[in-house]
Amino acid sequence: MSEKKRKPWDFRRFITTLNDFELIPFISDLQKRFKKNNRISPKQKNSTMGMILVTGATGGVGKRVVARLLSQNYHVRALVRDKEAAKSLFDERVELVQGDVTRPETLTPRLLDNVSAVISCVGTRVQPVEGDTPNRDKYYQGTKFYMPQVVDSPQEVEYLGMKNLTEKVKKYIRSDTKLLFDFTHPTEQIKDTWGAVDDVVMGGVSESSIRLEQNKAVFSGNVSTANNGGFASVRTKNLTPPLDLSHYEGIELRVQGDGKRYKFIIRCEGKWDGVGYSYSFDTFNNTPTTVRIPFSELIPVFRAKTVPEMGNFDPSCVYSMQLMQTKFEYDGALNPKFSPGLFRLEVTSIKAYGGSANTPQFILISSAGVTRPGRSDLNLEEQPPAVKMNDKLGGILTWKLKGEEVLRESGLNYTIIRPCALTEKPGNKALIFEQGDNLKGQVSREAIADLCLQVLRWPEACQKTFEVCEDEKPDKGQTKQAIAALETD
Ligand SMILES: NC(=O)c1ccc[n+]([C@@H]2O[C@H](COP(=O)([O-])OP(=O)(O)OC[C@H]3O[C@@H](n4cnc5c(N)ncnc54)[C@H](OP(=O)(O)O)[C@@H]3O)[C@@H](O)[C@H]2O)c1
Repeated sequence: MSEKKRKPWDFRRFITTLNDFELIPFISDLQKRFKKNNRISPKQKNSTMGMILVTGATGGVGKRVVARLLSQNYHVRALVRDKEAAKSLFDERVELVQGDVTRPETLTPRLLDNVSAVISCVGTRVQPVEGDTPNRDKYYQGTKFYMPQVVDSPQEVEYLGMKNLTEKVKKYIRSDTKLLFDFTHPTEQIKDTWGAVDDVVMGGVSESSIRLEQNKAVFSGNVSTANNGGFASVRTKNLTPPLDLSHYEGIELRVQGDGKRYKFIIRCEGKWDGVGYSYSFDTFNNTPTTVRIPFSELIPVFRAKTVPEMGNFDPSCVYSMQLMQTKFEYDGALNPKFSPGLFRLEVTSIKAYGGSANTPQFILISSAGVTRPGRSDLNLEEQPPAVKMNDKLGGILTWKLKGEEVLRESGLNYTIIRPCALTEKPGNKALIFEQGDNLKGQVSREAIADLCLQVLRWPEACQKTFEVCEDEKPDKGQTKQAIAALETD
């Protein structure tokens, strides 16, 4: 094209693009300083650790689990029986959903959608018998001495509650996919993460945008080949921290297009103009399609030139993703489905697929002693109060065991933790793990919360049930080996 025919280039849009992606640190920084309310609210904080549902979140262990999840950047959803009361216990990052495990109608999609694991700290409420005082030395519950009584029915809470919850969790929990961008629920974070990068960065005049509509993101615009241009795209800012998708096989897009061919580009380095890994996919006019992009089929490219010497894509550190409408295929070849002008690609979700869920999806805080009531090899008098008083407490341990059985048969990846008497002491002691339900002792609620966070990431904790109490010795970081050495159920 001769200089005469060159279309005017929009320098302002060029600067805006660079600035949106914080490539002009000075301007971006100034804008951040002067923009009102520019503080990223905790809710918008980029979290890549998945959504964890905590039930019994208002309890002694539950509260500690929530605090630890937040400090490790997980999204946390909490099932609470009284949402108003719970507001004062948690900061605004916790998504509170009102419900009750004994009422299945309250265990809604809103509670379970997008959850990657559940930590259940629910327990039947136990309180002193009316007229009793905490000083009467009858029953040790870790914090108080008293003659206890159950408030609710253990059969309902520990057994039917588990049945209700696991049935719903099985339906919603996704073991093989990880939802990376859910455009059906547009958030400020998604809005802030994605932005347009068009050929204006190379002198072209194409224009595009990503718009978040009610149930989808719409990548649309106008591609022009003027000024040797011919592409429009939308891209994420660098994800912090980068995503680790090494347990997955590829990326799955749910899209509805216009019959054109698009590119999906993903980067495992943080450079703005570095090497990307690209995959071209065709769309069908107004027909929703699922596009699966195996990591092994991604082509390393620098702009539209292939760079095979860069080797395979590394899914363990994913920095950014991009969707592109372009005239160019690779190495000078042209996109066979390209025509300049308007285009439109609707995107519902971007997921990682092909993951084998190899870590626990459901962690249950049960109790030591659940198999002991009625066991003929034991002298009841030597047993902890909860075992001795099982009948008086509505068969609480018996129903906890039945709840465990429901989980063991659920088909979910689970870990069942059976603590001995819970205390409010600091959790800095080494832990003793046993199987067979003979262990006696105490363990801090702090330590149990720490343990939940650890096993959440450990494949070696799956399909295991074990008792736990504290040793006298300080913790020396041997927990993982100890859990790995336990038998699976
Ligand atoms: N105490 C011990 O020495 C000991 C020993 C071994 C094991 N355990 C077990 O360890 C677990 C955690 O103990 P903890 O001391 O953290 O218990 P906790 O303080 O009594 O907390 C129990 C939690 O369960 C919730 N809950 C009760 N019924 C519910 C229902 N129907 N639906 C939804 N949530 C319900 C409570 O919510 P609300 O706030 O609405 O009441 C509370 O958040 C419990 O299962 C307990 O039985 C205790």
